Parts: sequence; C-alpha cells; structure tokens
Amino acid sequence: MPLKTLFPTLVHAAPLGGAAAGLNHRLLRECLQLRREDRFGRNWSARHYAGGYTSYNSRSRMQQVSPTFAELEHRLDAHVRAFARALDFDLRGRRLVMTDCWVNIMRRQGVHGLHLHPLATISGTYYVRAPAGCAGLKFEDPRLERFMAAPPRRASPRSANRSWVTLPARAGHLLLFESWLRHEVSANRGNAERVSISFNYGWF
Ligand code: NI
Repeated sequence: MPLKTLFPTLVHAAPLGGAAAGLNHRLLRECLQLRREDRFGRNWSARHYAGGYTSYNSRSRMQQVSPTFAELEHRLDAHVRAFARALDFDLRGRRLVMTDCWVNIMRRQGVHGLHLHPLATISGTYYVRAPAGCAGLKFEDPRLERFMAAPPRRASPRSANRSWVTLPARAGHLLLFESWLRHEVSANRGNAERVSISFNYGWF
C-alpha cells in the first residue's frame, strides 16, 4: 500500500476484565452514597455541572479514601500500562500513577462540554451505569484547528477520517486516551442516570 498512517490518535476501549460485576455493584452504591453525603460537591455541581453531580471539585481522589475505588485503581493500572506500551512511552525509572479519580452522575439531558485534562498524561473514564440511549464519549480530531483549506468530508467517511468520533458508554467498560485529546459528553438521552468514574494518570 502506498499510504502510511502517521501520528495516529490512540484510544483504548476495553471491558475492565476479571469478575467485575461485584466491584461494579459496590462502586455504584458508593457513587450514589457520595452524592448524598457531599453537600459541597452538590452545590458546586449546581453552578458548574449542568444536569448532574460531579465530585471533581470536592472528592477528586476517591482512590485514596475508598478501598472499593482503590480496587478499581488496581484494575485500571493494568490497562494504563498496556496503553503506555502501545504509545511506546519510555517510563524507565518512572511510573504512571493515578493522581485523580472522581464521580460523575448525569441526569437525562445532562451535558459536559468540550474539554481536555490539563496537568495529566493519560485520562479515562470507567462506566458504572450506562442506561439505554445514554450518551457516549465524543472525541475531537486534535488537528482540527489546522484544517485551513480542507474540503468537507463525505457523509460517511471511515472512522479514522472523521472529525468527531463518539465511542459508546458501556457499563463495566473503560476508555483511555492521552489527556490532551479534547472530548465531550452530548446530552444524555437515557431515562435513567448515567454513572461514570473519571480519572487522571501522571508520570511526573
Ligand atoms: Ni473529561
């Protein structure tokens, strides 16, 4: 083939693995309990997180305070190591460590606008509950602002040539991406609440 793929954008999408059902059940219980107890977080979310609750600005290191979240961290570590290998990261003498881990609960029509995760290396989300019809995670082509004279694309381009790609949210599954990759959650069309746990890993 004359074509070569340069500078690919890798996203790791996988089931958590192992016997995850019991862990997922405990995580769901703790996520809902956290929302009940975290009054500061609920007030912050009312101002900054339309249509839902996030512990991003209140309880953002859940892996350090909950053995259940610490178990999730342990399982995620293996995925992050595999992703780092796929990215050819040279981490000799250093380790990718979970720095932040927080809870997101979105009601119907809840949205989370386009953003990236500053001061992190690898970011990701684990889906605790993903009701039918709920929004996935929408990624934006990181080269978009350089597309100066590019013609529009066909109606159905290959996924590698799309400007935005949405990967589905599936309970018990996770997504990993490099933290500079912009992403958003479109309006939740599911009738039930969508519960996810987001996290950052850093190497410095
Ligand atoms: Ni994010």
